[in-house]
Amino acid sequence: MPVIDLRSDTVTQPTAGMRRAIAEAAVGDEQKREDPTVLELQQRVAELLGQEAAVFVPTATMANQIALKLHGRPGDVLLAEEHSHVVIYEYGGPAAHAGLLTHGLRGNGGRLSAEQIRAAAAPSSKVADQRATILSLENTHNSAGGRVWPLDELEEVVSAARELGLVVHLDGARLLNAAAAQQVEPAAIAARFDTVTVCLSKGLGCPLGALLAGSAELIERAWREKHLFGGAMRQSGIVAAAGVYALDHHVERLGEDHARAGTLAVGLAAAGLPVDTERVETNFVQVDLEPLGLERAEALARLLDAGVGLSTTIHPTVLRAVTHLDITDEDVERAVELIPSALGLGVAAPR
Ligand SMILES: Cc1ncc(COP(=O)(O)O)c(C=O)c1O
Repeated sequence: MPVIDLRSDTVTQPTAGMRRAIAEAAVGDEQKREDPTVLELQQRVAELLGQEAAVFVPTATMANQIALKLHGRPGDVLLAEEHSHVVIYEYGGPAAHAGLLTHGLRGNGGRLSAEQIRAAAAPSSKVADQRATILSLENTHNSAGGRVWPLDELEEVVSAARELGLVVHLDGARLLNAAAAQQVEPAAIAARFDTVTVCLSKGLGCPLGALLAGSAELIERAWREKHLFGGAMRQSGIVAAAGVYALDHHVERLGEDHARAGTLAVGLAAAGLPVDTERVETNFVQVDLEPLGLERAEALARLLDAGVGLSTTIHPTVLRAVTHLDITDEDVERAVELIPSALGLGVAAPR
């Protein structure tokens, strides 16, 4: 295990306070809708997102897949940015679970334009043509490097989709990072969508858990899908308690992760590494190895040897460093020394 673990914001350990909240959680049978902590978490997340209701599930993948099943029938077309999580990291779930045909669109910083949506969902010339019925957006966008959708662009794209009769889902696994970066309430982003996924086990520092939010009617239907996926649990308040704790203690602090990512990016760029500091909008920093002529496996091994964990991305030459709850200012300071030297720039820092 790397000493400074920047591989992902999913590597966090529950804090002492979170462990206490877990230990002391009031629990009940979730499937009977009797777990008070799950009910509290669902209520709070629905309010936070400006939606009527929310359902607790084990993972953000399950939340996304349930949403897509709610919105599409087999043979319908799902529009999504080509490198979005639902397209490249969910094992073909849209096809496997919902029978959807995914049409991946080329993004710009993980974002799509209204024109792209209009072109991809143009009215059919044949009566029997397959049709785009769902648009899934991702904010922040993982593969683009934690990039955030400007609100006006988001509104334009969602409006275009609505004009075309599409249902709109938001994979907001890191939605709270987007809201923190834009200094807006999460609802200012999320309320415009039919369904929204949020994840507890990323920047919020929980061991597991995610929620799908939407209208009361959709979330009632989502419960059936949750059972069908085997995701209906029993005394799951034991983990929902971590989520409630995170809403109280780990949302306000997300800006600290973003500030540390900014410091890391500036430090690495100053040391001569190919890092575009302009693209660091939240807690991700991307390092392009191409100009260094280094293979990513070799780079990762050298970094690990120096005690720093970075991870690969969908882009073959790009590594990423992600700040999170367990990364301190001192870790960032140290990483700014260790990463360039491990990648062959400057004088090797003493370990
Ligand atoms: C944007 C996005 N959506 C969904 C997920 C899936 O999360 P989980 O691992 O909880 O299924 C991830 C995980 O990295 C993600 O980055």
